[in-house]
Amino acid sequence: MPTTSPSPPAAVTVVGAGTMGHGLALQFARHGAPVTLVDHRRANLVDARDGVEDAVEFLDSAGLLDAAPDTILGRIDHTLDLPAAAADASLVIETVSEDLDLKRSVFEEVATHAPTEAVLATNTSGIPITDIAAATPDAADRVVGCHWWNPPYLLPTVEVVRGADTSDDTLSRTAAFVEAVGRDPVIVERDVPGFVWNRIQFAVLRECAHLVTEGVASLPDVERAVRDGYALRTAAIGPFETADLAGLDLFRTIASNLYPRLSDANEPGALFDDRIATGRGGVDDGAGFHEYDDRPADVVRRRNRRVAAIRRAVED
Ligand SMILES: NC(=O)c1ccc[n+]([C@@H]2O[C@H](COP(=O)([O-])OP(=O)(O)OC[C@H]3O[C@@H](n4cnc5c(N)ncnc54)[C@H](O)[C@@H]3O)[C@@H](O)[C@H]2O)c1
Repeated sequence: MPTTSPSPPAAVTVVGAGTMGHGLALQFARHGAPVTLVDHRRANLVDARDGVEDAVEFLDSAGLLDAAPDTILGRIDHTLDLPAAAADASLVIETVSEDLDLKRSVFEEVATHAPTEAVLATNTSGIPITDIAAATPDAADRVVGCHWWNPPYLLPTVEVVRGADTSDDTLSRTAAFVEAVGRDPVIVERDVPGFVWNRIQFAVLRECAHLVTEGVASLPDVERAVRDGYALRTAAIGPFETADLAGLDLFRTIASNLYPRLSDANEPGALFDDRIATGRGGVDDGAGFHEYDDRPADVVRRRNRRVAAIRRAVED
């Protein structure tokens, strides 16, 4: 759908100063928006400020910073006072933990204190927008999904998701805001579980797990096949353009042979369960599908360096 042309971003309030909240605050501030970052724990606001400083330093070292670090940091206020923070916002984005009751209570409070024309957005990964909007029936037309990927200051697309009651005006104002803060909106017209990106991400993960479980290929080999093969080429051209290049007849034939043979598992299964049961829950445990000798923050930094390098390469 067409969006209005980007204009300077208006005042925005970010509720929840965790992994996503501090990254969103940084992304908005580096594009000139005055940001108020809210949490209910002072310690999390302190961590968020440190997180923003680290990320600014990273962007600077990667040659991706477009304003002076102090200017960006100076645009972000931190507070425990949600009612005051919502009072002047043109857009409030909620990014508290993934819990429907918690999100509903935040939306009730936000709708009470925000201006009556403010957009009320949620960064939920998978809770239906319509279920969150049910907490604020009088403002349901202004509730919208605005789903960012981690880290928000590196990944270029953002899903703008229409709930059952979201108005056209709310959808286009949200898309215009996403553009004004340097991102590319992907409009999700129906409030389906997982929206677009997570459906694709988990469809790929399910097939990867199936191939490993069935002994078709080892886990490290499947990892490399996706990361260094499929994903690398997909970073250059998407799946539909790939099909165009190969020819639709060929891809149609392959698809009709393969679809019936792909995984349709309904449960994640033993590949996950066995590791979780033995304390291999991922990077924070030092092991998951892989072993990690370095600290989680170093693993994040390594990923971010690679994403930044790929972005620079595909933008050339
Ligand atoms: N982490 C990701 O990769 C990612 C990516 C996209 C979307 N999301 C979504 O973003 C949301 C936040 O995820 P996260 O990983 O940043 O979580 P997180 O646990 O790192 O941060 C959540 C923050 O919300 C704060 N909070 C909780 N209740 C609050 C309240 N009543 N008022 C103010 N602050 C409150 C917590 O103190 C915490 O700082 C979730 O809905 C998640 O599904 C996460």
